[in-house]
Amino acid sequence: MSQTSFPKNKIKVLLLEGIHPGAKALFEKETFQVELLKQALEPAELAARMADVHILGIRSKTHVTKEVLDAGKRLLTLGCFCIGTNQVDLEAANAHGVPVFNAPFSNTRSVAELVISEVVALSRMLGDRSREMHDGKWRKVATNCHEVRGKTLGIVGYGHIGSQVGVLAEAMGLRVLFYDIATKLPMGNNRPTASLGELLGESDFVTLHVPATRETHEMIGTAELARMKKGAHLLNLSRGTVVVIPALAEAIRSGHVAGAAVDVYPHEPAANSSNEFTSELRGLPNVILTPHIGGSTEEAQESIGTEVATSLIKFTNAGATTGAVNFPQVEVPQAKGTHRILNVHRNVPGVLGAVNRIVSELGANIRTQVLATDPTVGYLVMDLEHDVSNDVAKAMAALSTNIRTRILY
Ligand SMILES: NC(=O)c1ccc[n+]([C@@H]2O[C@H](COP(=O)([O-])OP(=O)(O)OC[C@H]3O[C@@H](n4cnc5c(N)ncnc54)[C@H](O)[C@@H]3O)[C@@H](O)[C@H]2O)c1
Repeated sequence: MSQTSFPKNKIKVLLLEGIHPGAKALFEKETFQVELLKQALEPAELAARMADVHILGIRSKTHVTKEVLDAGKRLLTLGCFCIGTNQVDLEAANAHGVPVFNAPFSNTRSVAELVISEVVALSRMLGDRSREMHDGKWRKVATNCHEVRGKTLGIVGYGHIGSQVGVLAEAMGLRVLFYDIATKLPMGNNRPTASLGELLGESDFVTLHVPATRETHEMIGTAELARMKKGAHLLNLSRGTVVVIPALAEAIRSGHVAGAAVDVYPHEPAANSSNEFTSELRGLPNVILTPHIGGSTEEAQESIGTEVATSLIKFTNAGATTGAVNFPQVEVPQAKGTHRILNVHRNVPGVLGAVNRIVSELGANIRTQVLATDPTVGYLVMDLEHDVSNDVAKAMAALSTNIRTRILY
């Protein structure tokens, strides 16, 4: 068994905002000391607790400012147990040599399942029938209600969610087309189209799974809705800026688009509130409106907990930074019988030369050496054959370019 130079049971983890207990369990399995708080902390309050924290876990309400990072003298890494990382001063974290991890894809399945259920719901006008029953009206109709088997689903953006939707849809007998700007390997019998227009013209259901970019901003407006087949349906569970809402409302009122499922909006309230939600889509027939819940399931929360905790543990134990949002990406398998040194330094010319001089002067042999850089920092992972790693690490830490040097096993 390899040993970290710093005893694992002295590593302190502070988890805020009621992070899923599954994450706590993973840290405890590593024998790390974990403190789990239900609430978020204000930056000043958090800064005051940072002195002995090695790993910090937050969700979206805690702001990790430069002040917090300056106070975190022992902080090794930071985990955002959510999708976004806007609440963290990522540049300051990078300058401090602190990689930040999040979990952008933990809720993929949750979104994909909701899409499939809404394809069926739109096809059967389920939202309207349910609303009528709640209003005390019994309206048993078959007209304009359809099975989805044999219909065509067009997926715009065939990434994590889009491709998962494609797999599930095909299992239900839908014919699946997709359009993506990148070349993607089709799942099953899913078929790429050459253009967005081709997909719009052939699909009975169009579902959007693109990121918010300049190109996808208002990607679906009057002209694109007009290209859709008469009686087709639109689903947007991606980003609120992708669809022009007044254009969609008009296409539904005119009957050209037979229904829509919308989960994301150009302007969304910051939190649950009693203020009335306003949208031109309210009250329109066969329109399912949901409050950005595509990824909101307990399974997704659990999976976020596992994914982020695993990244934090892999970095702490082995220096892996794959998936870090603010840091050069390095993941090196451990070479047997070696000692690993991790070094973060200011990215200026000559650092590697200086490091290699130290290694050679101390008579150590390098088994593996991987350097990755971004504009401000360089991250070096080095496995040494000779047991002079403490001396090497000490000399590396003394270099003027050094930000952090840590010796592992
Ligand atoms: N409703 C929710 O609760 C919820 C939850 C999770 C994700 N999302 C959103 O869903 C979207 C998709 O997420 P993902 O995890 O699948 O992302 P992803 O990055 O895995 O996939 C996005 C795909 O879109 C493609 N793409 C980018 N620009 C395009 C364009 N102009 N035309 C066609 N394709 C384009 C990319 O090449 C990529 O394949 C994101 O906007 C994400 O924010 C929403």
